[in-house]
Amino acid sequence: MHGFTDVDRQSDPNSWVAVLERLSEEPFYQAYQHRVRELLDPAPGRCYLEVGAGTGASAAQLRDEHGVSVATVDHAQTMSAAMRACGLTQSAVADAHHLPFLSRSFDGAWADRTVQHLADPRAAIKELIRVVRPGGRVVLADPDYDTQVLDIADQSLARRVLRFRAEVLLRNGTLAHQHAGLFAAHGLVDITVEPRTLLVRNPTDADNVLGLRSWAATAAQRGTLDPAEARAFEDQFDEAVTAHRFTYAVTFFLTAATVNGDESIR
Ligand SMILES: C[S@@+](CC[C@H](N)C(=O)[O-])C[C@H]1O[C@@H](n2cnc3c(N)ncnc32)[C@H](O)[C@@H]1O
Repeated sequence: MHGFTDVDRQSDPNSWVAVLERLSEEPFYQAYQHRVRELLDPAPGRCYLEVGAGTGASAAQLRDEHGVSVATVDHAQTMSAAMRACGLTQSAVADAHHLPFLSRSFDGAWADRTVQHLADPRAAIKELIRVVRPGGRVVLADPDYDTQVLDIADQSLARRVLRFRAEVLLRNGTLAHQHAGLFAAHGLVDITVEPRTLLVRNPTDADNVLGLRSWAATAAQRGTLDPAEARAFEDQFDEAVTAHRFTYAVTFFLTAATVNGDESIR
């Protein structure tokens, strides 16, 4: 399972804080997270919740840029400590499936790259909606690994490694294109979906943050790929770098909606 499913039990939990810190410096992540904050429709005095907030960088920006109050939840003690260190005092260690808040407590709530890691994403989305008042905003951001492409010589091998990434390394790696449908099923209105494609041409960046080159070796360790195929993947990966053809892309979906006040639907 992916390290973000249980950060505290990893051999070096703080290395996962460092991963998030590196990503938060990437222009792609900064741009889409800025858009996530806009989609929450923040206004001074309003009150928001981020679920699976990690280091809380985006939550702190929402608070500082819009004069709102922000509560955060993460089930990792490591992340909660990082959030408190950066001044997010309303930071709880809690599970996305059981939020420790009354219904309709917030003007908006969001989860950014969290749903992909959850055991029961549908229950957690229902929970996210529960804590938002009628008329409030709910936003989900996640990559959808069904959208991946990678240019190495053997496209069949590339697809197998990418499928392993999508289906084995992540619990819900291919759910993001269904977030709108899940919102609709809860009677939410004003549903919008915005795609944002992460394009990686510099594999050094990619491997720092995504570990792409290592996915084939992991697949071999788990018996999904032959060790010789894993080595071929790495050789072709390196060849693509040398030939300046390296291209990897995955699309994130930002899904936003307004909570409906109709109790019969919620
Ligand atoms: C990829 S990180 C994203 C962090 C942050 N949203 C950001 O944009 O940088 C996913 C976060 O979800 C948290 N997480 C995973 N499962 C969770 C759960 N069941 N309940 C609450 N948080 C969870 C992890 O600890 C991690 O901090």
